[in-house]
Amino acid sequence: MSKEYEKRIKDDDLYETVEEVFDTRTVLNVVELMRRKVIKRLAGTISAGKESRVYLGYTYDDKPVAVKIYLTSSAEFRKGILKYISGDPRFAGFSPRNTRELVYTWARKEFRNLTRLYEAGVRVPRPISVYNNVLVMEFIGEDGLRYPLLVEAYKDMELEDAKRVYTRVLEEVEKMVCKARLIHGDLSEYNIIVTPDIDVFIIDVSQAVDVNHPNALEFLKRDLERVVEFFKVKVGLNIVEDSNKLIEGLMKCLERRKVE
Ligand SMILES: Nc1ncnc2c1ncn2[C@@H]1O[C@H](COP(=O)(O)OP(=O)(O)OP(=O)(O)O)[C@@H](O)[C@H]1O
Ligand SMILES: [Mg+2]
Repeated sequence: MSKEYEKRIKDDDLYETVEEVFDTRTVLNVVELMRRKVIKRLAGTISAGKESRVYLGYTYDDKPVAVKIYLTSSAEFRKGILKYISGDPRFAGFSPRNTRELVYTWARKEFRNLTRLYEAGVRVPRPISVYNNVLVMEFIGEDGLRYPLLVEAYKDMELEDAKRVYTRVLEEVEKMVCKARLIHGDLSEYNIIVTPDIDVFIIDVSQAVDVNHPNALEFLKRDLERVVEFFKVKVGLNIVEDSNKLIEGLMKCLERRKVE
């Protein structure tokens, strides 16, 4: 088989997977990541949301990866994004010319946040690469199947395991805030993955902001209130602390770090 023919088949395979959803530019962005040998192929859909699609992919050494592709066509998305980008000192002076450029920035922001969290030792998927609106990261699952989200996993969980998950989530939040100095901003049972050994991964960090962001405290409060509410009401744990107490603890830990 000629090289050219081989290439055409691969491209056709790719179109088959993504054609309905993506514009030509997005397809070209995925192809560029293939040319760079970051990914060899896409193998199926993990999740299809309003703002992004997540695919299972494979690297050239056949390791599974999660490929998150941000849709560049959603006007709602644009409004939502701007709230988090304006006010973040890392994006000072940034004025995107169009929605596509804004979405590319958003993808880069998730990659930077993932890197910062990963380097601080927070359990997030290892960031691998980002190109325009396509982000590649470690796949959290096995045999091509993603591990469940907390919202899916909690129903069949023993109380002891639920307690452990609660404790682990709070430990990760403390690392995020005190070590990485980032506030997640959309933390909930939908953005926490539970692994079979009853540990957690925190995902979906595109909207995370620096602790010095003007709305940081508001975002942190909302994050903790959601987590507390979930474990208290849905899971029915009686050991759950008050979210204000948790915030106090995190503030103290931030202060201590400032002094150190
Ligand atoms: N690294 C990963 N490994 C395995 N599964 C993942 C990974 N990242 C994301 N997922 C799956 O894809 C889903 C969507 O990912 P994510 O939460 O990052 O996007 P999202 O912004 O919530 O998308 P949308 O809001 O458009 O639905 C997750 O709920 C999870 O099931
Ligand atoms: Mg999510």
